[in-house]
Amino acid sequence: MDKIQITGGRKLQGEVNISGAKNAALPLIASSILVNGKICFTNVPDLMDITSIRLLLEDLGAECNVSPGCLEVDGSLIDKIEAEYDLVRKMRASILVLGPLVARFGHAKVSMPGGCAIGARPVNMHLSGLEALGATISIEHGYIEAKADRLVGSEIYFDMPTVTGTENLMMAATLAKGKSVLRNAAREPEIVTLAQALNKMGAKIEGAGTAIITIEGVKELHPADIKIIPDRIETGTFMVAAAATCGDILIKGCEPDHIGGIISKLKAAGAIIEIFKDSIRVVGSKTIQSIDIKTLPYPGFPTDMQAQFMTLMTIATGNSMIHESVFENRFIHANELLRMGADISIRNGNIASIRGVKELQAAPVMASDLRASASLVIAGLIAKGTTTISRVYHMDRGYEAIEKKLSLLGADIKRMK
Ligand code: EPZ
Repeated sequence: MDKIQITGGRKLQGEVNISGAKNAALPLIASSILVNGKICFTNVPDLMDITSIRLLLEDLGAECNVSPGCLEVDGSLIDKIEAEYDLVRKMRASILVLGPLVARFGHAKVSMPGGCAIGARPVNMHLSGLEALGATISIEHGYIEAKADRLVGSEIYFDMPTVTGTENLMMAATLAKGKSVLRNAAREPEIVTLAQALNKMGAKIEGAGTAIITIEGVKELHPADIKIIPDRIETGTFMVAAAATCGDILIKGCEPDHIGGIISKLKAAGAIIEIFKDSIRVVGSKTIQSIDIKTLPYPGFPTDMQAQFMTLMTIATGNSMIHESVFENRFIHANELLRMGADISIRNGNIASIRGVKELQAAPVMASDLRASASLVIAGLIAKGTTTISRVYHMDRGYEAIEKKLSLLGADIKRMK
């Protein structure tokens, strides 16, 4: 299994280009199931999760063509409605094929996605939403089976905002008979871009990006060319890395409008930030201010940036507090940061108190999930000595060529086979 070795102490300087967003690409690629024709996706990141969903679609019978940064999916050839355990277990977001399959074919069998390191990750809201649209749902031998002659538009109220739940049901409702209304919907940019793409394919969706989304069902959707939006979490990760190393980087090809929460917190921590149309410059300051954050659904501070921010706070002046309100077990990286000399205490499982220390010390550490791996990379960049991070396959799921991008910014980082 690959490891990454980082010798800390270097300031990040220069320019970095942001890749397409994993969490936008996954639902968009799943939406090709809805279309009896070929969809061409561009600005597609080269990530393990993208390969996983492509393999899943190919297993369903879709024809996929891959070229650098592009993915073509022809859903007209799909002849199977079962997403197998072996494929789904590799990536929980495979649940995103459930809504499109039952909407287009009236039948779907998808392996229950297991939990993961950060939480149980239930899909009850996905299932109750499909039942509201008239599907009959059964769960047997670890598989979800959904059936419906044709889905019928309905009102769906989410107990709490769910990103993939909103995406799954928005996709399913596009082919339902009549009107659907999703209330307490998630408002992430990935929802907005999915709605825009579906509308380009002939869907009738309004309100994406607000808590109330209405979908007027249509008989069928048609092919369209879709460009993936920039990855706001990759953008935020590089911003935190620049602040932590007291560097000066220009992040290009990003969408500043999608990272307001991150910008405001980084400014409060003392970073100097210049915002341009599709790029952002971050200059770190010698003294990092301790600040408190609470993770919330968009447009609040994103939970996917919590681990990276915790690393920054380990070397801030004074004490800070992080409240993880979205997932129940998203502080695993704290144990690894403690091994690097950080001063962190966790209470009630979701409140972390961090007392800033002068510097972290390099150590062998282990990644536990995608964003935890990013927090350990940032820790390695600022620690005294050489840090080795194992289980970096977690990082390869969501960060395209990260060691190459960091090397170009001056980091002393290399992957070891
Ligand atoms: C999406 O996961 C993202 N993944 C996650 O990114 C992200 O952390 C999360 O949204 C929150 O922003 C993708 O988009 C592929 P949720 P998702 O449903 O949709 C509970 C990363 O690092 N819930 O919004 O699975 C759930 O347990 C990944 O890129 C239910 O209880 O998250 C959580 O507490 C990690 N029942 C809360 O809602 C449900 O049916 C929000 O989860 C669904 C969710």
